[in-house]
Amino acid sequence: MLRLGVNIDHVATLRQARYRGLDHGEPCPVEAVRQAEAAGAHGITAHLREDRRHILDRDIWAIRNAVQTRLNFEMANTPEMIDIALRLKPEAVCLVPENRAEVTTEGGLDVVGQANAIAGAAATLGQASIEVSLFIDPDPAQIEATAGTGSPFIELHTGAYAEAHSDEAKRASELERLAKSAELAKSLGIGVNAGHGLNYKNTRGIFAVPHLNELNIGHSIVSRAVTVGLGQAVREMLGLMDGYPPAG
Ligand code: PXP
Repeated sequence: MLRLGVNIDHVATLRQARYRGLDHGEPCPVEAVRQAEAAGAHGITAHLREDRRHILDRDIWAIRNAVQTRLNFEMANTPEMIDIALRLKPEAVCLVPENRAEVTTEGGLDVVGQANAIAGAAATLGQASIEVSLFIDPDPAQIEATAGTGSPFIELHTGAYAEAHSDEAKRASELERLAKSAELAKSLGIGVNAGHGLNYKNTRGIFAVPHLNELNIGHSIVSRAVTVGLGQAVREMLGLMDGYPPAG
């Protein structure tokens, strides 16, 4: 079974567009947690960014209290975020790179270049029984470096695949990169999640990638929720993910 983690960051993005600096506002990320879980989401993902541009500190604690499935806390590997994670006790942490200028997380982590720092974070979080995953590009060198950090999971960055949607040859080559990366991770005993840029048109194509455990999807689900409601948007995505892994 392929699990769905619903990323609710953009519920807070919409609230901040009107209520930045205030201690209230709509839409409410906690209500989004309730509706996504009621519709069958297997987990909730939220990213507390260093600049607090969408999810705020008060949100992440309220989300922690509301989540009944699993909380996947996305964060940069900084002392401040490690301290918050140890107190928050999410079921999982996904370490992501952070660049203040980016609109959303753009590239994967450089595990090769930051192996020691990442291994230290993975050990600290692992000792607190938090499952660690590293958000990386589908690059063999990054996957091999992940094995050395002791992180049990990767989240493969599907952004390049998503961006190639109108170019069939490029899309096929990105899918092949993802599939080979998943095979390599599996051979090294690393679990495989994936996400970024997945939507109602391209998610089914991800079935070509083996060994997937979970997809983390945010923008497309929150966008679809504007017209059909969050519960329906989650159910539609779960329907598209149904039948993974494909037979044969
Ligand atoms: N996974 C990670 C690590 C991310 O940073 C993001 C974006 O916040 C996502 C998944 C979800 O991407 P999208 O919002 O494009 O579905």
